[in-house]
This record gives sequence, C-alpha cells and structure tokens, in this order.
Amino acid sequence: MFDDKVMIFDTTLRDGEQSAGIGLTTTEKLEIARQLDALGVDIIEAGFAASSPGDFKAVTQIAQEVRRPVIASLARCNPDDIDAAKEAVGHAESPRIHVFISSSDVQIWHQLRRNPEEVLDMAVSSVERARRYCDNVEFSPMDATRTDREYLYRILEAAISAGASTVNIPDTVGYSIPSEFGDLIRSVRENVPNIDKAVISVHCHNDLGNAAPNSIAAVVNGARQVEGCINGLGERAGNASLEEVIMTIETRKELIGVGTNIDTTQIYKTSRMVSEITGFPVQPNKAVVGANAFRHASGIHQDGVLKERSTFEIMRPESVGWPSSSLVLGKLSGRAGLRARLEQLGYTLDGEQMDKAFEAFKELADRKREVTDADLEALMGQQSREGRSAYVLSSLRILCGSDGVQRRADVTLTGSGAEDDKHDGVGDSGNGPVSVTVDAINDALHNATGRDVSEQVRFINYEVGAITESAYALANVAVRVAYQGREFTGRGASGDVMEASGKAYLDACNKALFVG
Ligand code: KIV
Ligand code: ZN
Repeated sequence: MFDDKVMIFDTTLRDGEQSAGIGLTTTEKLEIARQLDALGVDIIEAGFAASSPGDFKAVTQIAQEVRRPVIASLARCNPDDIDAAKEAVGHAESPRIHVFISSSDVQIWHQLRRNPEEVLDMAVSSVERARRYCDNVEFSPMDATRTDREYLYRILEAAISAGASTVNIPDTVGYSIPSEFGDLIRSVRENVPNIDKAVISVHCHNDLGNAAPNSIAAVVNGARQVEGCINGLGERAGNASLEEVIMTIETRKELIGVGTNIDTTQIYKTSRMVSEITGFPVQPNKAVVGANAFRHASGIHQDGVLKERSTFEIMRPESVGWPSSSLVLGKLSGRAGLRARLEQLGYTLDGEQMDKAFEAFKELADRKREVTDADLEALMGQQSREGRSAYVLSSLRILCGSDGVQRRADVTLTGSGAEDDKHDGVGDSGNGPVSVTVDAINDALHNATGRDVSEQVRFINYEVGAITESAYALANVAVRVAYQGREFTGRGASGDVMEASGKAYLDACNKALFVG
C-alpha cells in the first residue's frame, strides 16, 4: 500500500557535527555510521571531505566499511572540493557527491561577492564535474527559502540538466513556516520543467522550531527525500530531528500516504548512542526519544492507559525500541540477569567485557537499591569509552576543604599498551577539587608523553548531572576542551562525582591529543 517511499538522508556526521561543541573522532563517526546502517537510513552524509584531513579520513573509512547505504560527502562548487569528495566517497558501494552553493541574493552578493549568473555557471560546471566521477549527484541551492523563486527554478533546472539526480531545498536559516514551505515544494514541482528527472529533497533548520513540521509539509507536497540529524543536532538550533520526521510519517501513514525504509525499533538505541558519543543530552520532554516521551504522570492519563493504551498513547514505546522494564536489577541479581538485561538494551558482550560490566554493576548495586536501564547505559558508555582510550584513570585521591587545607590531587593513569604502562601525576594548583584533578591529570599526561598538556588543552566547560533521581545516583559529567582550534567533549560516569569529573576530562584529552 505504501510503495511510495521517502528516502531518509542522515547528516548527523556532517551538519550534526557542525553543532558548536561537538568534535567527533573517526572511530566515533564509524560507530555512529554502523548504527545508522542498522537503523536503515538510505543515505549517510559522512562529512565534508575537503574541510579537514580528519573529515577526509572519516568519510573514506565510512565509505570503505559501511556498505549498504549510499555514502555522501558535501562539496562546495569548486574543483578541489569535488575532487576531495570523489576521492573519499569513491570507496563506497554507492557513492554520492553533494554539491552546494548559495542562491539567495543576500548570500550571493554579500558572502560570495558574485552575481547570480556567475553562481548559476558555477553550479552547472560543478555538477558536471561531479557527474564525471559519480552517477549520483545531489545539488543544493543554499538558503533556498530566501531565494527569488524564478531564479530558484532556473538554477534547479540547470543543475538537473547538468546531471543532478537529487535537488535539495534547504531552509538554511530556519526561516520558513509549514504552509509556506509546502507551497514552495509544490511550486518547484510545477515550475521546474525537468523536475521529473530528479528526486526533491528537503533540509530544514530549526531556528524557529519548525524543522520537522516543515519537512512533513514538504513530503505532503511531493518531496521524497528528507535530510536531518538524530536528536535534532546541527548548526545553531539544529536540523530536523530525524526520529520526529520518521515517526510522524510512520504514525500518520494513512494520511500522508508514504512510508520509509527505517527499522523504527532501532531509534531509541541510535538516539542514546549519538547522545552518549557527542556528549549532548536528550531533553526529557523531547518527542519520541525523551525520557518522559512515554511516561504518563497525571492520574486521569494513567487510568486511561491502564484500561486501554490508545486512550493517551499514539505510538507504542516498543515501536521505537524503548526497552521494556520487566526485570529490575539489584544487588542480588547475578551475571545471567545482567547479561539478559544488557542484551535487551542492545549490548552483546564478550567474556572480558562481561567481567568488567559485572564488576561495575556490583559496585553500583551495593550503593543503590535498584539499578535502572539508564544506569546500565551509563556504565556501558563508560566501559566503551575506556576501551577506546589511550589512557584511563585508574586511581584518584583528592584532599580539599574549606579550612585553609592545602588542596591536592594524586592520580594514576594506565595506558592501553603494556601492563606496567602506569603514570602518576600530582595537582595542587586551583581553588577546588575539579581544578586540582585537572592539574594532576595534566601532570600525569606530561609524565606519560612529554607533552605540556596544560599549555595545549584549554578547559572550556563543565557540566554535572545525575543519571537517575536519587542521592545515590551515578554522576554524569561532561567536559568540553579546546585543542588546536577544535573543541572536544569528554564524558565520565561514576558513583563518585569527582571520579566522574576526572574521567570526563581525561576522555576529552584522549580525544583531543591521541585521536584527533
Ligand atoms: O543548511 C544548509 O543549507 C546546508 C547545505 C550545505 C545543504 O547544510
Ligand atoms: Zn544545514
């Protein structure tokens, strides 16, 4: 019935990574790309190959290793960008080059300092160049929603004649509203003579909170590709939140009349993984994936749901992969119970990983009556970060107080190499436990590598939260640092807030100094 499909184009690794404060390593991008593959997205925009050597490497590796989806790289309208994109995505089973250029007067005259005819020529020659390398070329007139409509029709027609098989209509500055954006898509269909030779895509930003509704209005009016990011990440206020777009299409299929290729039961896991790796939390009241999305608080709603779920529930939590909590874990639970719960949450562990997970679980269960799914996810996140780190925090001791005591921290870091790869550090500069811990970690990293970390890494931001609502909750700390003009976010989870802080800072340093 729903043969007509909307292609889902995920740009978490490109536009999402442009979010201020997110800096992903290649390994992290690969991990997310594999999960996007499991989610069933049709296209992964893996990066902007010409923008940095790190992006080039990430796009190349994703193209080499993630074989089912189309792998795209962004490129400006210049030969070097297109050549870099081609080289990186050339390894993919199904490569795409995504070429873009500004099309609104304000951006053409003030930013590009060109005139509209020059821009049109650049668009055509760039699409032609990309087509010489690759059959699958997408063209985006940036700031389309503030572009003169006659000019927009002309540039789209020219790009399609030059070989673009997808034309994307970006609401780059999140200015449009749903009725207007739907009308724009309909008018593109009616006024671009060769539009039947291309798929119409949309790419909406969320500056006014309309990114997902605009995308849906576009689908209703004929768009057949939607671009967006998991958890609505992206430049400024973000891009359309893919989980919201997907679940609107799936939940209102009868009305919208189209489907997607997405395995919606992978949505929860994808959202949590992206949040964990980027260090950007999901707000509790976020649609589809927020902690409260399926929680009914008022008595009337609870009464209704207990009698018949559809009274107040328009989607089933299981349909987006929310784990069902039939089993409560506590200090009497054994390995088998833990393993079963972790498997339900999507974690399959080998023997050594299971030993570590069980040890961390027992430690937590000793202090906390019930260990929740959120606790387990935090423990698994910590374990997976440590598994890919150059150094882990193996001990931390802090002396602090308000009565003039000489503040001091002592740490030991263990390297991922040999057993005896251990390095001590002492910190005494600063006015509190966080600063002496940072100082001690810098000292230990200096002893380990000879690098003057305190000069190279700048501490920018520190946030502490609790995983669950209890005095015995796990602390969840995010630390942002700057290194060589880029920002990196590190995370740490522990029952001890200072240990979580030290782990978070070390995680950020590991990313900045050793992975890049
Ligand atoms: O927002 C935008 O216009 C973009 C383009 C590069 C597609 O991200
Ligand atoms: Zn964008």
